[in-house]
Amino acid sequence: MKVGIIGFGSMGRMMAEKFAASGLVSKNSLLLASRSPEKLKDAKKWATVTGSNAELAASSDIVFLCLRPFDLKGVLEEIRDSLKENTLVVSLNGSVSFKNLEKSLSDASYEVEEASGKNPAPHKIAKVIPSVTAEVDRSQTLVCYNDNVTTEDKGNLKRLLTCMGDLIELPEKELGMGSELVSCMPGFIASVFDVLVKSAEEHTEIPHDQVVRMVLQTMIATGELMLKKDMSFEDVVTRVATPGGITEEGTKVVYEQFPETARVLFEKTLQKRKLTAKKAEAQFE
Ligand SMILES: NC(=O)c1ccc[n+]([C@@H]2O[C@H](COP(=O)([O-])OP(=O)(O)OC[C@H]3O[C@@H](n4cnc5c(N)ncnc54)[C@H](OP(=O)(O)O)[C@@H]3O)[C@@H](O)[C@H]2O)c1
Repeated sequence: MKVGIIGFGSMGRMMAEKFAASGLVSKNSLLLASRSPEKLKDAKKWATVTGSNAELAASSDIVFLCLRPFDLKGVLEEIRDSLKENTLVVSLNGSVSFKNLEKSLSDASYEVEEASGKNPAPHKIAKVIPSVTAEVDRSQTLVCYNDNVTTEDKGNLKRLLTCMGDLIELPEKELGMGSELVSCMPGFIASVFDVLVKSAEEHTEIPHDQVVRMVLQTMIATGELMLKKDMSFEDVVTRVATPGGITEEGTKVVYEQFPETARVLFEKTLQKRKLTAKKAEAQFE
């Protein structure tokens, strides 16, 4: 199976490196194309660099579009006549709808066929959202499919993506909140703990690196404890915060004061997500 990756930025490079390093895709079967060919120079040792996006599309069984939303439409139109009939097209962007991806892969007959009630787009399309934790093979990668994707396609995609961690299938409408929970969450977690550490450091002379390490190891171990012992967040709080004790003083503050911050956080990010999706979709009008 030939795997093509268009766009060799943050996501494209990470996925290509993971596919190659895991041994899942050989040099001859891993095809790369990007706007700035000089960035692909080093990758020639472990992947095949193609001359154009269309050339890559003509040979690939799966094409990953690792592109910003405003570059997507142009590339879809560029590759649509070269794609093989059965190729699975995978967009790494969550903001552009299946409908617009399908429209750009189809010719002018799309709207006529849609109006006459036919399925105008036979293309197989998936959306995939990895997390930065893929770098340590612990991504909770989100995936969703349009109706044309077969069980065999899903199996092929799953075999590839599990080299970066777990796969979570969601319906298209849940991709937004799903992205908040896995793709944005490393940033939310890091910023919350950054605040906690800075506050703790006002009361201690323990060196910064050691404080960070203590908190990080405790954070990772708390997660593992919950997963292995099937504990909820509240179970952990109850276990550690004995009534009238020191921890309870702290957890009370969190439960009293943090909900408002969390509410505003999701209100703002979801608002921004809507705006980003609107701008992305506008490129397709
Ligand atoms: N970054 C994340 O953590 C993350 C997580 C999940 C999903 N995503 C999604 O993944 C997508 C890619 O994000 P990214 O962070 O990887 O972006 P990025 O670093 O900007 O990479 C985009 C790549 O696409 C290339 N490109 C642009 N136009 C092209 C064209 N016409 N033909 C071929 N290549 C072209 C760019 O080339 P140049 O090098 O010349 O600019 C660049 O290498 C986005 O839609 C984003 O929403 C990102």
